[in-house]
Amino acid sequence: MRIGVFDSGIGGLTVLKELRKYHKDQEYIYFGDTKNLPYGTKSKEELFEVVCKVIDFLISKDVKIIFIACGTVSSTIYQELCNKYSVPIVSIIDATIAELKRQEIKDVAILATPATINSHVFKKKLADVNVLEISCSKFVPIIENKIDSKFKKLYVEQYLKDVKKERIKHVVLGCTHYPLLETDIKAYLGEVNCYNMGTILAYSTYLKPAKEGLEVYFSHNYEGLNEKANTILEEKINILEQEI
Ligand code: DGL
Repeated sequence: MRIGVFDSGIGGLTVLKELRKYHKDQEYIYFGDTKNLPYGTKSKEELFEVVCKVIDFLISKDVKIIFIACGTVSSTIYQELCNKYSVPIVSIIDATIAELKRQEIKDVAILATPATINSHVFKKKLADVNVLEISCSKFVPIIENKIDSKFKKLYVEQYLKDVKKERIKHVVLGCTHYPLLETDIKAYLGEVNCYNMGTILAYSTYLKPAKEGLEVYFSHNYEGLNEKANTILEEKINILEQEI
């Protein structure tokens, strides 16, 4: 089946990688909206406008289903997108919440973008759980080379100090860029369970085996982007620049 996967940038590649690991025999069209990055500080109206252009592009590529590889979009405008489009659209947040419920986790820290944290989606849907919400606005700009990575350690320590203080052992990487900081997060927190939403989405989804394929598009190709994509996917691909 031809599957559309999208995010604001390279974060969604952490999801694509997991989908391809669990469901290699599918045809994927990936779109990273690097021109409009970051999504996590946009208003719902701004986000809806840019995301519709991405979805229209994926539909023009004849995808049969769309996986939102973005916590921000899934937690803020998911219902509006489902109302507008007839193609099935899958939220990455719903799969993660279902997994946390299944594991009966009692204390969890959610690291996410300002938009996801302001939606309080995890807190609302995990009513009996002690949820510590942390907005990490600088992580995405660091990962996408918009802020010097020498500040990485500083921000990791700043954002995660309460997780350490409260000794929380379950940490949801509630933005799909954050698996790219997992090593730094664990270096600071020690032994914690980091939940990768892409992994959860991939193993909790059933897809009938089909033809294999991969196309990866970005709306802005910045220096080093292709190398970053290769590193994340652990394979050599040729990214394509696509205006939307
Ligand atoms: N990777 C996205 C998310 O999961 C978007 C991050 C951003 O562009 O702010 O929230």
